[in-house]
Amino acid sequence: MIAIIYILLLMDLSFAAISTSAFCECSEFKTSIECAQQYNCKWSTSCKDKICSDFIEESECDRASDCAWNDTQKKCAQFTSCSNYKVNQASSCQLKDATCIAGDPNPDGSYICQNGTILCSQISDQKLCNSDLYQSQHEMCTYSSSSCQSVDISKCSTITEQFICTSLKCSWSVTNLSCLEGTCSSYSSPDMCSYVSAESIGTKILCKWMDNSCIEANDVFALTSSNCYINTGGSYAWIDGQCKECHSTKFGVLVALNAIFSVLLALML
Ligand SMILES: *[C@@H]1O[C@H](CO)[C@@H](O)[C@H](O)[C@H]1NC(C)=O
Ligand SMILES: *[C@@H]1O[C@H](CO)[C@@H](O)[C@H](O)[C@H]1NC(C)=O
Ligand SMILES: *[C@@H]1O[C@H](CO)[C@@H](O)[C@H](O)[C@H]1NC(C)=O
Repeated sequence: MIAIIYILLLMDLSFAAISTSAFCECSEFKTSIECAQQYNCKWSTSCKDKICSDFIEESECDRASDCAWNDTQKKCAQFTSCSNYKVNQASSCQLKDATCIAGDPNPDGSYICQNGTILCSQISDQKLCNSDLYQSQHEMCTYSSSSCQSVDISKCSTITEQFICTSLKCSWSVTNLSCLEGTCSSYSSPDMCSYVSAESIGTKILCKWMDNSCIEANDVFALTSSNCYINTGGSYAWIDGQCKECHSTKFGVLVALNAIFSVLLALML
């Protein structure tokens, strides 16, 4: 009897799909390789957070919170005040800091940034609307039905655009034209079969390739030092020779987008 209960318990455990909202921070990476794959981490005997002056590229500098590119000095420094920044594209002001928007265009086409928040509905230019602008932490602007609208990207089910839906690893229902929680089975090749988004963006369901199909994973034994981090969307790291879940959970929608972006970058390396 005890043996049967034990077996049932084991079976139950082995069928539990892994869902995680962990997000590894620099200090949790134990190998220089994984550390170096993070745009915001640097390795010096251990993995540490970069400080502003460590960023040598404008785009990475601007993505880092609290840092912004100083055009006069041609280096990355602590963000100062919106009005100190001049940019060539209106959408770039928000990259300097979430509190900045573009002012009116100068005669040469550049913009001085100013304090302010974005209201998607007030943007008339389609290109500007579709340039990764955020009205808030979880509302993204997107051009749809001839106007600029905000899309709530905190959940799969509130996303109305196919592109945003699939970028965030939710699944797009062609029959209902709606966005739903991601499903592993929608991936038909082993290299795509990594993880999908749960209904709440930032929570991931891990997938694994088995018997020629992509199914929900109940363990991470097949992951290696080179794909542990990438295939878990930044939730697991290679620690002491094993793929282990990280402890930090600093996970928001923007972090999710950032993670997808850095995973894409890592894949291109
Ligand atoms: C860039 O650095 C210079 C010199 O330190 C400073 O005067 C200027 O305000 C900085 N620019 C911005 C945008 O912070
Ligand atoms: C813009 O915001 C900064 C930081 O909150 C503040 O110090 C500054 O006075 C503001 N500038 C204007 C023009 O309102
Ligand atoms: C489409 O919507 C209907 C009604 O809400 C639902 O029952 C059905 O499962 C949905 N189909 C898909 C493929 O999501």
